Amino acid sequence: MKRKVLSALLIAAMTMTAVGCGNKSADTAAPAETEAPAEAEAETTDDAAEAEADDTEAPAAAASGDLITVGYAQVGAESDWRTANTESFKSTFTEENGYKLIFDDAQQKQENQIKAIRSFIQQEVDYIVVAPVVETGWETVLEEAKEAGIPVILSDRMMDVSDDTLFEAWVGGNFVLEGETCGNWLADYLDAAGRGDEEINIVTIQGTIGASAQVGRTEGVDNILKEHSNWNMLEMQSGEFTQAKGQEVMESFLKSYDDIDVVICENDNEAFGAIDAIKAAGKTCGPDGDIIVVSFDSVKAAFESMIAGDLNATFECNPLHGPRVAEIIQKLEAGETVDKIQYVDEAYFDTSMDLESILAERLY
Ligand code: AHR
Repeated sequence: MKRKVLSALLIAAMTMTAVGCGNKSADTAAPAETEAPAEAEAETTDDAAEAEADDTEAPAAAASGDLITVGYAQVGAESDWRTANTESFKSTFTEENGYKLIFDDAQQKQENQIKAIRSFIQQEVDYIVVAPVVETGWETVLEEAKEAGIPVILSDRMMDVSDDTLFEAWVGGNFVLEGETCGNWLADYLDAAGRGDEEINIVTIQGTIGASAQVGRTEGVDNILKEHSNWNMLEMQSGEFTQAKGQEVMESFLKSYDDIDVVICENDNEAFGAIDAIKAAGKTCGPDGDIIVVSFDSVKAAFESMIAGDLNATFECNPLHGPRVAEIIQKLEAGETVDKIQYVDEAYFDTSMDLESILAERLY
């Protein structure tokens, strides 16, 4: 009971190709440590190329003229990244492309997502897509979806479930690798500044505790921190992935410690808040400042912040998952198998690069 995927989906997929090309220069500039691990490499998506290959083919069940109904349980609207992710789903899952999208914003609350999933089951949607707020606590509701015969696809963050038949596939960023890339970048940066052997005091503004992006980035940075006995992690606190909370946490760090060398923000929006707090405290940040500021996501505003000299570096997390999830759905519709775990290639950006040119091509 599904319908043909129209040209707009292909345009969306081709847009993804452009994103991939745009990132290549930064990919090339990335240190060896940014390479995906072997297990990730095998499963990294090449969505645009594959979607383009399907150009003229209508999906197997295309003829009846019905739309594919997709319920998307979104985390919330806490960051620029999330806004771009929502837009990616809304512009992909359109009626023109053969879909009816039921979108739910959980306002960063797991209980709201569970309610949304139950509502999708009641409405007998064809597919449920979830970007889970946190990793744990999903078994019961996923079993309900399985019982109802509705395939579940995870996007962005992961769920920690003992039975992996409860979901069809997951697509998102390699958060541990992002954290390790950040740690390795910091080591190289300090070495280049002649500070490789100095005592370095670090604070971290974490994301939502228990979210894959928080768990993975904290773990990845910690893996590199263990290699540097002169790095001291003074304190870690959650900034809930928001600018307001990021500012609040940085204000409290600055009151507690007068010798912070580095703040690691687990997303760009937290960094924007932290930068405001640093300036309000009469300190400076960025390449010429008192405090090194790094963050994750690489949204457009992070490029503006680097160009302004406030932010040192940002480690990419690509939010444009709409076409990737659509590709998974189309494969399932065609009765094909899909890779269970699909990592997206990601880069990093810092002030040594031609940021104006990269920003001019940036899609989010
Ligand atoms: O899960 C991805 C993270 O969630 C992004 O880093 C952040 O901006 C968002 O809130």
